[in-house]
Amino acid sequence: MLKQIENFTKEIILEAGEILIKGFRSNTTEISYKSRTDLLTNIDKASEEFLFKKVSEKFPNHTIIAEEGSFQDGKDEFVWYIDPLDATNNFAHGIPFFCISIGVYSKHLNRVVVGVIYDPIHNECYSATLGDGAKLNNQPIKVSKISDIGISMISTGFPYDKENPEKNNLKQFSVFLPQIQGIRRIGSAALDLCYLAIGRVDGFWEPELKPWDMAAGSIIVEEAGGKVTNYEGEHFDPKIPEIVASNGLIHNRLIQILQDVS
Ligand code: IPD
Ligand code: CA
Ligand code: CA
Repeated sequence: MLKQIENFTKEIILEAGEILIKGFRSNTTEISYKSRTDLLTNIDKASEEFLFKKVSEKFPNHTIIAEEGSFQDGKDEFVWYIDPLDATNNFAHGIPFFCISIGVYSKHLNRVVVGVIYDPIHNECYSATLGDGAKLNNQPIKVSKISDIGISMISTGFPYDKENPEKNNLKQFSVFLPQIQGIRRIGSAALDLCYLAIGRVDGFWEPELKPWDMAAGSIIVEEAGGKVTNYEGEHFDPKIPEIVASNGLIHNRLIQILQDVS
């Protein structure tokens, strides 16, 4: 069943990628505002409408939760978390780093069991199914082997609510920055996790994320040999809005820094 879900998701995510590509840097793309800092485009909605229709037709008894509000209540084991366009800010500004992220959670196993993330600009499709390894365009991928945080590349992100000092991640950012080799704010939590899975970055932390930002990426990192937890270093639950992910080797150090700051 999980492989069937993965293969189906890979098919529909490529089609949704075409919707994003058509809307990118196009004057037909319309921008609206959820808040001053949180944008929405007609392309987020078109991608979600397409994906929701496909998944609900194929799996009418699964639960589906998508960022822009599409919802199906299902009795079966599986919950689909869909982000139809992760990094809308990049997309709306013409910055070519964004993706579609689809994670499937098992209520029986209490964990994510399938994840697929597609970056249509770079034609990179990352995928993972529980126990089957992580892949980029069907080729196996692994996390990095950096064990010294002093030479690590770490990525993070900042919540839309930037004015709240308890939540805006600035304290953590300023403590990490001097201790590591480099820091990146890619603008897509899902791509942050893919870049970790393939060894382009060594660690990632971010507060205030939603299940559709993290679910797919969490299993792609784990299946690439990395580690994913909450800020206490414990069981990762996509419904809890925080994530620490790493190649495993620097995980304790990331947790220690986050604990010291809070
Ligand atoms: C956002 C991106 C960003 C993260 C934000 C998310 P969206 O998703 O993943 O990297 O920092 O917190 O909300 O709104 O572009 O789908
Ligand atoms: Ca998102
Ligand atoms: Ca989104």
